[in-house]
Amino acid sequence: MTLRLPFTRPDLHTTDRPSSTAQWTTLGRALELRREERIVTDVYAPVFLSDVSQVLLQSLDLVGPVFRQAERLTLVGLAASGLCRHRFIDEHLVAALPSVDQVLILGAGYDSRAYRFADEIGDRPVFEVDLAPLSRRKAAVIDAHPELFEHASIRRVEIDFRTQSLQSQLAGTDFAVGAATFVVWEGVSMYLDASAVAGTLGALVELCGAGSVLAMDNWQTVRGPGGYLPRRLAERAMALIGEPIGFAVDASEVASVLEPHGFVVDDLAEGAEMTARYATGGRRCDPGMYVVAARL
Ligand SMILES: C[S@@+](CC[C@H](N)C(=O)[O-])C[C@H]1O[C@@H](n2cnc3c(N)ncnc32)[C@H](O)[C@@H]1O
Repeated sequence: MTLRLPFTRPDLHTTDRPSSTAQWTTLGRALELRREERIVTDVYAPVFLSDVSQVLLQSLDLVGPVFRQAERLTLVGLAASGLCRHRFIDEHLVAALPSVDQVLILGAGYDSRAYRFADEIGDRPVFEVDLAPLSRRKAAVIDAHPELFEHASIRRVEIDFRTQSLQSQLAGTDFAVGAATFVVWEGVSMYLDASAVAGTLGALVELCGAGSVLAMDNWQTVRGPGGYLPRRLAERAMALIGEPIGFAVDASEVASVLEPHGFVVDDLAEGAEMTARYATGGRRCDPGMYVVAARL
């Protein structure tokens, strides 16, 4: 028999539960709706929260002023990073949409861009790709709220990036191979390993045509006590909830990961730059996460 602390979880890939980190990022976007000066506005986020996340949301509401102060600490910089990376990808998506034919969201979680940018996306198909339990829970929540979710051009694709190829999983859909595609890969690479990341980049090159854009974030090493400790705590917490960190690449080396697959880096923002561009309310991003947009 395995002894388990009450808040710990077995590895995500060995269970039929939806991702907890997808709940965290969604909780972050739901909390953001309480603020006046927002980094992102996602009115759909609260609908996707589990019962536990709903209780957390209400508890954090009760300690609002303390929470606002705590948010300024580097220790909670990952919360601001999660919001700023979302904003970075939003901006690149909106800029690229006029010249792409479809949108592919890898490890989509409760990403609601298909609804938030329904007007800009128009009739371009949106392919949302994720592990089956997450994908099915999301579909069930959406089906239960027809009054909120009207956009109909979403195709749901179930995949495990570690064991299945994007080409085979997209094969049964109307994904247009070779067409210009905006690819979102947000908050996912760090939960994979180098081989799954390389495999997915290789698949993207085969599937997406010239003019495609990939927007993603990565985990990187942080040196010095100010960044090291929060990083170790975050990594420990993720391992405990069954979603351990398995891949990191320093921002200075990301081109060497992307370029062999044909992706040329267009825009890159590390923590300080993400803070300068998007953070509000004195919040600061974690130096261990950065965002990158690259073009095929
Ligand atoms: C931190 S969440 C990010 C969700 C969403 N992109 C966001 O930013 O809110 C990580 C997502 O990656 C998905 N994921 C993790 N490992 C995966 C794998 N091996 N194959 C497919 N999806 C995976 C999880 O199910 C989850 O939805």
